[in-house]
Amino acid sequence: MRQLNAIDQFIVRADRALRTLVAGEQFADRPSPAKNIAEAELSPEEARHSAGLMRVNHAGEVCAQALYQGQALTAKLPHVRTEMEKAAAEEVDHLVWCQERLDALNSHTSHLNPLWYGMSFAIGAGAGLISDKVSLGFVAATEEQVCNHLQHHLEDLPAQDVKSRAVVTQMLRDEARHADMALSAGGMRFPAPIKGLMTLVSKAMTKTSYRI
Ligand SMILES: [Fe+2]
Ligand SMILES: [Fe+2]
Repeated sequence: MRQLNAIDQFIVRADRALRTLVAGEQFADRPSPAKNIAEAELSPEEARHSAGLMRVNHAGEVCAQALYQGQALTAKLPHVRTEMEKAAAEEVDHLVWCQERLDALNSHTSHLNPLWYGMSFAIGAGAGLISDKVSLGFVAATEEQVCNHLQHHLEDLPAQDVKSRAVVTQMLRDEARHADMALSAGGMRFPAPIKGLMTLVSKAMTKTSYRI
């Protein structure tokens, strides 16, 4: 297969970005864990809260798409390419499942997603330029943060919103596996101050995505 030149690369990345940011343009490999669960009666307040949390999760998955795309552009990762591609495909499942929950709750994805995509793509590409060790370390640290968020969401989601809970539970399992994979592939463990900074940034992102 011929090597992709710079223009091909640009078109492939732009196509992927648009597919991530436009609803209905990505397709899940696995059916949603919520598929065979009946929709529960939620009060308007509960539905609004569930939608806010699922919008945060969807925005997180937009970031995951961008991070993997940025990384794919710059990182070498020959020994974990298959695992990374599998993880990236699972992130597409998460993106679609969150989108489906938002549709069912009559809500919308975050208007800030293009901004989060751009930021995450730059970080992913930047980490890959430094080294594979940093790049994989960044994946591991991000997935750990996501696991913390998902754990909180399981406590915070309305008890009867079993559909959203099923989606978040499966995502939590997948993200924990992605973190382990990145660390066992040689990702560095980020020091506490960097993780602290990442927590601050993610708090700002989740607060705004919950509302807009
Ligand atoms: Fe994910
Ligand atoms: Fe993940």
